[in-house]
Amino acid sequence: MTAEAPLSASGQEGRSWASGAVVYQVYPRSFADSDGDGVGDLDGATSRLPYLADVLSVDAIWLSPVYRSPMRDFGYDITSFTEVDPLFGDLAAFDRFVGRAHDLGLRVIMDFVPNHTSDAHPWFVDSATSRVAEHADWYVWADPAPGRADPPQPPNNWRAVTGGSAWRWVSQREQFVLHSFLPFQPDLDLSHPPAREAIHDAMRFWLDRGVDGLRVDMVDFLAKDPLLRDEPDEHYRFADAEHHLDRQRLPEVLRGFRDVVTEYPDRVLVGEVNPDLSIEETVALHGTAEDPLLDMPFNFGLLRTPFTADALAAHLDAYDRAVPAWAWPNLTLGNHDVSRLASRLGQAGARSAAVLLLTARATTFLYNGDELGLTDVDIPPELVQDPWEARTPGRGRDRNRSPLPWDDSPPAAGFSATAPWLPVGAANSTRTVTRQRQDPDSMLSLYSELLRLRRSHPVLLDGAQRADNPQPDLLRLHRQQDHPKPASLVILVNTADADTVVEPSHLLGHRRPLLCSGPAAWQNETRTLRARSAVVLR
Ligand code: GLC
Repeated sequence: MTAEAPLSASGQEGRSWASGAVVYQVYPRSFADSDGDGVGDLDGATSRLPYLADVLSVDAIWLSPVYRSPMRDFGYDITSFTEVDPLFGDLAAFDRFVGRAHDLGLRVIMDFVPNHTSDAHPWFVDSATSRVAEHADWYVWADPAPGRADPPQPPNNWRAVTGGSAWRWVSQREQFVLHSFLPFQPDLDLSHPPAREAIHDAMRFWLDRGVDGLRVDMVDFLAKDPLLRDEPDEHYRFADAEHHLDRQRLPEVLRGFRDVVTEYPDRVLVGEVNPDLSIEETVALHGTAEDPLLDMPFNFGLLRTPFTADALAAHLDAYDRAVPAWAWPNLTLGNHDVSRLASRLGQAGARSAAVLLLTARATTFLYNGDELGLTDVDIPPELVQDPWEARTPGRGRDRNRSPLPWDDSPPAAGFSATAPWLPVGAANSTRTVTRQRQDPDSMLSLYSELLRLRRSHPVLLDGAQRADNPQPDLLRLHRQQDHPKPASLVILVNTADADTVVEPSHLLGHRRPLLCSGPAAWQNETRTLRARSAVVLR
């Protein structure tokens, strides 16, 4: 319980457009298919932008990769940093997407993957040919460990995120190349100036085309120990790595990225960090007011925090205190790499989570389809796409990447005119945008209402925040501001499976419900909050 805790600072100067924005992640393969090949594309996404601007009314879009790619990791394996894959369209389609988004008042954050490329990238193909090739030093290469040579032994004990050694033998060069992710995703060596410059130029390419920011993939992998020393504990967690992830050298890489972004007015730099990083390690990636690095290192805390009032209050309170006063907090409850929100928490829990996510003091990242309450889809073995599943059964991410259901048109709920790359799923086929727009009690209506509330109550953006747990299973957020005019809201979330009666004093004098997570979630007379429900009180 943190009843005495001070409220966090509010109303800061010098913030970016993304401070407090609601950012919607479009996973383009699964968003909307315009050309009937079963895979979503840019023109499809462009045609659905009015949904994002007018029905949901988010502020920005984070677009997952649309680069040229063999798609073995669905675009996170790039073969050209400055081309659009034909599957998604072309540069003209990209420009149409950004242009239309801007016309509708939506900002665009482009996914950017500088840690590795595809092994089919011309840089790597050249690099692999010989130790004196033009791109010879663009990747992390190493000789085998001394000693047993048949077969050659990896130079150290670094592991891949996807399991097994992070080193792959390339017989052409008689050396190992590092792959922190899948074997076909060799790690670039960003300590090598030409490689770093090429990456900076690729960033400029998209910033020149008008994107409002970049979401950088896996930032904490971007610097490695140049001596390639063994991890002291061979079973290391990535969050604890000492050499594979070189935290001393990382700020220099991020500073380079920051400098590029700063060449342009009003752009932001978001970074994906290891979900296991502590709050302190995560917020350290903001840098300092004098030497800022990332506008937003993703805070994945809510993905690993149990959805219980005490754990949530502790996380929100600790995180809010840790974010430097000049920076802005951010929250995420879903993305293309994790099980869907409604599958993790159930529909009622997902509704409460939406209330929490959109009333907390933060830039908020929403994952496409979570606003419809989509659930994970069981993928039969013959339809499995994600190589993570083949490498580590059970870790595949197909289940949470199923296409969006737009309406009742066959064969794929309005997503595509043909069988889609992943099934829509029977349950999700009934959760269409069209149906939910007509139902005031739908998940989509809740999200629209929450976004409207967020806009009409500046205290939800600027107000100070205190998160606490005043009675068992009750999470309370208190949002409050004195300027420009005094305002105060209390958000209550009952995380238990049973109804709870809220102590009168815990309402802090707030009695008028503004929004409930579901019909009859809150009984004003008896102060009863239904099981797994939330209410916003003024
Ligand atoms: C990030 C992406 C994930 C991808 C991985 C390797 O974690 O979110 O989808 O597989 O990086 O690029």
